Amino acid sequence: MATVLVASNRGPVSYVRRDDGTLDARRGGGGLVSGLSAVAAEDSLWVCAALGDGDREAVRRGVAEPGVRMLDIDPGVYDDAYNGIANSVLWFLHHHLYDVPREPVFDAEFRRRWASYRAYNRAFAEALAEAAEDGACVLVQDYHLALVPGQLRELRPDLRIGHFTHTPWASPDSLRMLPQDVREELVRGMLGADELGFHTWSWAQAFVSGSRLDDEGRTARVRVYPLGVDGEDLRALAYRPAVDERLARLREETGGRRTIARVDRTELSKNILRGLLAYRELLMVHPEWRGRVVHLASAYPSRQDLEAYRSYTAAVTELAEEINAEFGTPDWQPVLVSVRDDFTRSLAVYRMADVALVNPVRDGMNLVAKEIPVVSEAGCALVLSDGAGAYEELREDALTVNPYDVTATAEALHQALSMPSAERAERTKRLAAAATALPPQQWFRKQLEALRALPEE
Ligand code: G6P
Repeated sequence: MATVLVASNRGPVSYVRRDDGTLDARRGGGGLVSGLSAVAAEDSLWVCAALGDGDREAVRRGVAEPGVRMLDIDPGVYDDAYNGIANSVLWFLHHHLYDVPREPVFDAEFRRRWASYRAYNRAFAEALAEAAEDGACVLVQDYHLALVPGQLRELRPDLRIGHFTHTPWASPDSLRMLPQDVREELVRGMLGADELGFHTWSWAQAFVSGSRLDDEGRTARVRVYPLGVDGEDLRALAYRPAVDERLARLREETGGRRTIARVDRTELSKNILRGLLAYRELLMVHPEWRGRVVHLASAYPSRQDLEAYRSYTAAVTELAEEINAEFGTPDWQPVLVSVRDDFTRSLAVYRMADVALVNPVRDGMNLVAKEIPVVSEAGCALVLSDGAGAYEELREDALTVNPYDVTATAEALHQALSMPSAERAERTKRLAAAATALPPQQWFRKQLEALRALPEE
């Protein structure tokens, strides 16, 4: 039995089946993983989904990391819940990604998937109810598991339940696209928690204004915990010989030119296409940068089961090729795109970048905007969209842009490239201080303490 439980779709570890049939455990990265490892005690448990064949095989063979329980959910139900609802409906609503003349369509197929989403949430609620000690604290993560707090409270009213949303929260108008009963089920599910956490005040306020229900339900407390980065950990990772080597190679590839860097998942909300258009406009309007700058665009392949993501990834590569064809010369390639999961390369890019471009249309937090200033060697000017959660903490020392305004973004890139190096270094220092204000361990501990401090019901 556990006194502290975490639930998330993606867990801290995942298994890959080797050719010889044995299973290889790979530790996942990210703030949540390092945040929890700090509080992981004998009696803590992390409940997550088995994501692929390797994970399912591990569950079947009874292979597990201490303190981790993977749920082997029926693959069809899982696919409906993860791809069909969480990533195609909830993600799109919260990030305002719908192409409205065509989407969304809430038909019988949607209803079928919604029932799977409910069942997938229920599998988590049941596993948590079974494993939790009397009065235990449960911290449920993200939009995949929005119904868990309500379902779990029904099963175990004695538990202290928190829910944290890592995405933005949809504006009330966007949320109202959902069929009324589904919207109410979603909100009621969330309101099963004692405390609802968000990265920023904007997302918390959006939740509060879009969540008024007609009946008198329970009330949950809404609080803001802006996740930051662990500076020491990250610098230790970034200043390793393997990263030094990549850095030397990248410096050769870019011929010592100035660099504008971006690092994202291949994700629609990251606004990679408008970023490339802004770079193209920079080269058109400020020809003095031609031959003197390289745009390093790194994207980790993500959610490739969804057609919208596959075609977006292809469009990014095509646009980069167009720009290279339009402006490139025999000894200068204007854009270097890397669509690979390559964290070592990203760290090298973080160290060398003169300018970082973080221009999402909407983003829960965006940790890249916080990681780059912490790792940068000589200072990096940050061009930051006002749609990123990180904007609330970093806006003073970033060059901020409306993510839809390509011309303003091009101009901000020009200003960033032209910034005197002393100013750049000063701003980077202040950005790094803001970025490390609430590192993952403290972020997690604060939420746990808040739950523990709740009065007994
Ligand atoms: C966002 C979500 C996370 C999710 C991550 C990667 O940051 O808030 O919950 O894990 O994207 O997406 P994926 O679908 O690969 O888990």
